[in-house]
Amino acid sequence: MQKFEQFLLDNLPTSSSIHPTYEKALGQMLIAGGKRFRPALLLGVVNAYNPLLAQGARHAAFAVELLHTYSLIHDDLPAMDNSPLRRGEPTLHIAYDEVTAILVGDALNTYSFEILSEAPFSDYIRVKLINNLAKNGGLNGMVLGQAIDCYFENKPLKLQDIKVLHTNKTAKLIAASMQMGAIIIGREELGEELYDFGIKLGLLFQIQDDILDVTQSSLEAGKLTNNDEDKNSFVTILGLNTAVNEANILADELNKELNSFEDSLHSELSPVLTKYINRHKK
Ligand code: IPE
Ligand code: IPE
Ligand code: MG
Ligand code: MG
Ligand code: MG
Repeated sequence: MQKFEQFLLDNLPTSSSIHPTYEKALGQMLIAGGKRFRPALLLGVVNAYNPLLAQGARHAAFAVELLHTYSLIHDDLPAMDNSPLRRGEPTLHIAYDEVTAILVGDALNTYSFEILSEAPFSDYIRVKLINNLAKNGGLNGMVLGQAIDCYFENKPLKLQDIKVLHTNKTAKLIAASMQMGAIIIGREELGEELYDFGIKLGLLFQIQDDILDVTQSSLEAGKLTNNDEDKNSFVTILGLNTAVNEANILADELNKELNSFEDSLHSELSPVLTKYINRHKK
């Protein structure tokens, strides 16, 4: 992941204009860090089968991280979750203003597809990757999830609808990260299987995020916690114990599936997956 971080620094969005703060703001949330969970999944799949493609795959991993980072910047806006802290730093609407946060989000979103369109792959693979990221991160994926999340504040949903919400806002991008890795190595059937695994993993990831909202301090999380009271979070709707039970059930299933992965995939992904599948158990 060190090489990924270097790639990210080398490819930060740039602009030379008369604007005094735009360029600095463009890179700020990317540099601030984050777990880089989605890039690790994508690169893990590529490294398991064809490490020679890892360098090119960094473009795709970066594209996913760009789209994810844009989603966080918008998620924190006053109109959405109204959060002053992200990745341990003041959010862009606090450090600058709302206009900056909205426009930097827009810029990272489109830059993500610019990066993918220039990735060192065949036209066929490039189009597949662009399509996959757009489908999962866009109007029938993350954006839909965010729309449901915000619309249904203070309107409790049924469990099966909360799963739809979490699947869209979080799981689809995580699943896409795994599938994009498989597309890069030319294993589309494996990609379908990894997508299904990734949806389950992403659902767990969001349930854990809901749990951490009530169990971690803002300092520990690097973002505002105890901020889900009005939301259809697993904890708000089901209570902490039931949320933890749901997470445990999913974690057991995922650990079993991980153990059935082919050796090379298992050894590449098990460090990152074991860490995140079990992160609510601490
Ligand atoms: C936070 O994602 C938003 C969710 C989808 C739960 P991450 O927990 O991956 O955030 P970073 O990238 O580490 O900041
Ligand atoms: C956000 O979910 C998911 C996104 C698509 C950004 P949350 O609102 O729970 O994420 P955090 O807790 O602010 O990171
Ligand atoms: Mg949110
Ligand atoms: Mg939020
Ligand atoms: Mg959250």
